[in-house]
Amino acid sequence: MTDLFRFGISLPRDLLDKFDRLIKEKDYPSRSEAIRDLIRQELIKEQWQLNKEVAGAITLIYNHHKRELLNKVIDIQHNFQKIIISAQHIHLDHHNCLEIIALKGRSKIAKDLLGAFKGVKGIKHVTLSMSTTGMGI
Ligand code: NI
Repeated sequence: MTDLFRFGISLPRDLLDKFDRLIKEKDYPSRSEAIRDLIRQELIKEQWQLNKEVAGAITLIYNHHKRELLNKVIDIQHNFQKIIISAQHIHLDHHNCLEIIALKGRSKIAKDLLGAFKGVKGIKHVTLSMSTTGMGI
């Protein structure tokens, strides 16, 4: 187990009140856990900014009846196969598909992949969840 270190933090009262309200809203068990989470979020943000090895997921919503669109989605995935570690296709209803694409690789390539999907006309929604491989945090 990692050694734990204690340190004191001085905050203006109103900022601490806001922090405590946030902790309550997000159901953190303690201030310490909330601060650890905030620090990890910043480290992950830095990994993404510095083009480090990251993990994440792209989700797409699109209408599979538009065959050209479907082909483009598949072509893009083949072009980025080095960063895609898994893809799951879910038929949401008669028209709409949800695709969840798991990624592991350099953050710039992940962002390029996001950009490629955003450039496809007809995709209803695209999101990128920026996470971490777990290393360095
Ligand atoms: Ni489908």
